Amino acid sequence: MSLFIRKPLSQLMSDTDSSEKSLKRTLGPMSLIGLGIGAIIGAGLFIRTAAAAGGHAGPAVVISFVIAAIGCALAGLCYAEFASMIPIAGSAYTYSYATMGEFIAWIIGWDLVLEYALGAATVSIAWSQYLNNLLQQTVGWQIPYQWSHSPFQHSLDTGVHGIMNIPAVFVLLLLTALLVRGTKGSAAVNSIIVIVKVTIVIMFIILGWKFIDPVNQHPFTIPPDAGTVQLSNGQVHNYADTLNHGWLGVLRGAGIVFFAFIGFDAVSTAAQETKNPKKHMPIGILVSLAICTVLYILFSYVLTGIASYKEFMAAGSEASVSYAITNHMPGFGWLSLFITIAILAGFSSVILVMLLGQTRIFYTMSRDGLVPSVFSDVHPRHRTPYKSQWVFFVFVSLFAAFIPDNVVGDMTSIGTLFAFVLVCIGILIIRNKKMANAPFKTPAVWIVAPLGALVCLAMIAGLGLENWARLIVWLLVGFAIYFGYSRYHSKVRHGEVIVPKDPEMPKEPFEE
Ligand code: ALA
Repeated sequence: MSLFIRKPLSQLMSDTDSSEKSLKRTLGPMSLIGLGIGAIIGAGLFIRTAAAAGGHAGPAVVISFVIAAIGCALAGLCYAEFASMIPIAGSAYTYSYATMGEFIAWIIGWDLVLEYALGAATVSIAWSQYLNNLLQQTVGWQIPYQWSHSPFQHSLDTGVHGIMNIPAVFVLLLLTALLVRGTKGSAAVNSIIVIVKVTIVIMFIILGWKFIDPVNQHPFTIPPDAGTVQLSNGQVHNYADTLNHGWLGVLRGAGIVFFAFIGFDAVSTAAQETKNPKKHMPIGILVSLAICTVLYILFSYVLTGIASYKEFMAAGSEASVSYAITNHMPGFGWLSLFITIAILAGFSSVILVMLLGQTRIFYTMSRDGLVPSVFSDVHPRHRTPYKSQWVFFVFVSLFAAFIPDNVVGDMTSIGTLFAFVLVCIGILIIRNKKMANAPFKTPAVWIVAPLGALVCLAMIAGLGLENWARLIVWLLVGFAIYFGYSRYHSKVRHGEVIVPKDPEMPKEPFEE
């Protein structure tokens, strides 16, 4: 039977019918934008910006943000058409199963593990850095280096090697426990966190503006003769390397800061609770993207104006925003403390959304038979996929505990970028075959979709050989599982009726 067997739309709709009984259509455009910003602003801005500027783009990281934003906006328009075509809960996985068939859906679903699970790992590592920073600022003590870093890192000051990152695992444990119990009713908490996150970003921009030193922003891109820097993983970072200076460095930076935009697609998972999904879904996706883009450009302009990019490869490589304030904004210690606390709360909400998104995708894939049924076992009382939640706790923790943030961060970026490329191509296939009639149509789709795919591919190219190799290995593992397990267990393939979704299972962490 064909690799590209499709899940019948009627099947998807019956899923919707059963779950619609419990999900009320309460979300308007403002709530969707809130949901989007809640999932978007996180470690990408507060950690990865400094990594991109310090290692590759210099002050021109602002252009990296523009490139990443263009890629996201173009892919976002395609995403919005997908989301409005089948306005039910889901993700690129669900949409592609109905339109492009099982094999592509599998690749996308498998790829989304990089986005959600490794994304959660990256943010938890960033959380650990800011926790240590908070401890230092308040009690003058830190969790020892070896217990807050991966074995691939060592301290440049003391030479101590990392063993495992315990705080990162701790926050994952805490949030998993919360998700297992169910988080209904935390919409108010999410709204507060969104407001706090946006407030600190704006405060940093306004208060930091007058500390910008033009010397730090010239030259705009990193010159090839900028020299070398010793890194905590023992390697030497050479600015003369192709992707470490000039405009190619800016492209490399775009692949890194792309991480900061990940999450806007989370908006599409709330389609079922949206009052008018056809109209509000694209607004939710695109407006949250636009707001974040403006904030990111201003923020990165100020950050690279306050401190020189090289500092972000040395002393300022961890908890970089707090570092910049403490060292370059005299008299603003209170701001550093405030931002650190806010960042810890903000990161937690991003991790929560990612862990939740991950288990919900595997929940659907499990009901489709593509992954084992343990991923769709629902807790008798809490109505959450608790076993899946614990399996992913272990999986994500292994990365958080033992792998450095730049490795998992780049893997998250490349995985998501690849999924976006498939979404852009998918929309063209759908249009070409006139498969479905979406109420929201990507404008100028024959320009927007190929261009979206191209910009995302350019960022993938910029991420370099090592990351391509990681993506290929990940996909090969995925193929092995698909051909070894999923194909034989696929319910659609064997004509089995898929049990409707448990109507009582909470879908969003922040639903009322
Ligand atoms: N965009 C999210 C972040 O930056 C994943 O943390």
